[in-house]
Amino acid sequence: MQYSKKVLEHFANPRNVGEIENPDGVGEVGNPACGDMMSFHIKVKDNRLDDVKFKTFGCGAAIAVSSMVSEMAKEKTLQEAMKITPSLVADELGGLPKQKFHCSNLGAQALHKAIRDYRSKKKTKRAKK
Ligand code: FES
Repeated sequence: MQYSKKVLEHFANPRNVGEIENPDGVGEVGNPACGDMMSFHIKVKDNRLDDVKFKTFGCGAAIAVSSMVSEMAKEKTLQEAMKITPSLVADELGGLPKQKFHCSNLGAQALHKAIRDYRSKKKTKRAKK
């Protein structure tokens, strides 16, 4: 199995690892095939992702994918971030081995789930006013 230099670099030095205190949205996903898990925390300001952090309990590819998703998503509008797909992430990483492509699904899924969480919390807040 051959990993690109970029995958290895993100795996060795993952960006934006951790949690955000009082996040605006949280997205957690698990891969039933391997049991790996990923969670994304986001902070939203003026409809943009002001901060993005992740925690991944998983394989090297999943860690590299999370790191890349966090970089791709930062400063994007929520609409732009919702357009980040697993194949875009894999492309940005210089490709993933075929048998590891499923790992790239988790990153975009977790990010999108965090954005949906933010949107539903916002709706609830508005409804309470
Ligand atoms: Fe589980 Fe990669 S093997 S996410």
